[in-house]
Amino acid sequence: MPTILVTGARQGLGLELTRQYAGAGWSVIATCLQPETAADLKAVTGALQIHDLDNDNHAAVDALAARLRGTPIDVLYNNAGIKGGEHQDFGSYDYEMWMRVLRTNLLGPMKMAEAFVDHVAASERKLIVNMASGHASMAWNVPEPPGPPPGKLLYYRTSKAGLNMVTRNLANELRPRGITVLSLAPGHVKTEMGGADAPLDIVPSVAGIRRVIDATTPADSGRFLLYDGRTYAW
Ligand SMILES: NC(=O)c1ccc[n+]([C@@H]2O[C@H](COP(=O)([O-])OP(=O)(O)OC[C@H]3O[C@@H](n4cnc5c(N)ncnc54)[C@H](OP(=O)(O)O)[C@@H]3O)[C@@H](O)[C@H]2O)c1
Repeated sequence: MPTILVTGARQGLGLELTRQYAGAGWSVIATCLQPETAADLKAVTGALQIHDLDNDNHAAVDALAARLRGTPIDVLYNNAGIKGGEHQDFGSYDYEMWMRVLRTNLLGPMKMAEAFVDHVAASERKLIVNMASGHASMAWNVPEPPGPPPGKLLYYRTSKAGLNMVTRNLANELRPRGITVLSLAPGHVKTEMGGADAPLDIVPSVAGIRRVIDATTPADSGRFLLYDGRTYAW
């Protein structure tokens, strides 16, 4: 069966990705901060390995890639992310927090791609997925958007917009190695980050993500898609 590596798998979408892929018989490499506190993750049954990984720690990313050398990874799923708090308002930006958000959401996935590119290239499916967001969309950051309200959440928006550029760049750079790279947004989902009032439950969001992944071909590389397969406007 194929193998997927999911970052930030202690809770939320990462945990559900782990559950559904393990349930479908995939081999899952789940990484998270402090596995000792990850009771729900540990309760997942199936072919599952759990590794302690802070994605902000690039030496730790390299060390894990070295430990897993020789393991083909069909899907590298860069899921770990942070929002950076609710108060991201003009006039009172917290630039340290902004840097933290960029480090986790933007540099983290790029570092994972660099460290694990050989594992992905050695697999059958050869796919890297970056967890995107409607907040990344320039087209939707307008006075009356069809998606998230405009403005606000600037740390988060800039991190995910930058991540979309990472997706495009990686798609171009890794095409010669047969690797496909996607930005894939889960919708607005009920998780700790998405909040209890989010319109979408976590199970259908992840089921949709899995359908998109199943249908992805190399021709899709560099695209920005929603969990239901629709294309997002950049
Ligand atoms: N929920 C939504 O509506 C929504 C919409 C668009 C995009 N997304 C994206 O989907 C992804 C998952 O979000 P979620 O909704 O499931 O949020 P969540 O419940 O807050 O989960 C995020 C996970 O990322 C982990 N994480 C954060 N920083 C990390 C780091 N440096 N190293 C390792 N793990 C780290 C967290 O670890 P701890 O559990 O240890 O804190 C947590 O398990 C994120 O990239 C998010 O931006 C979510």
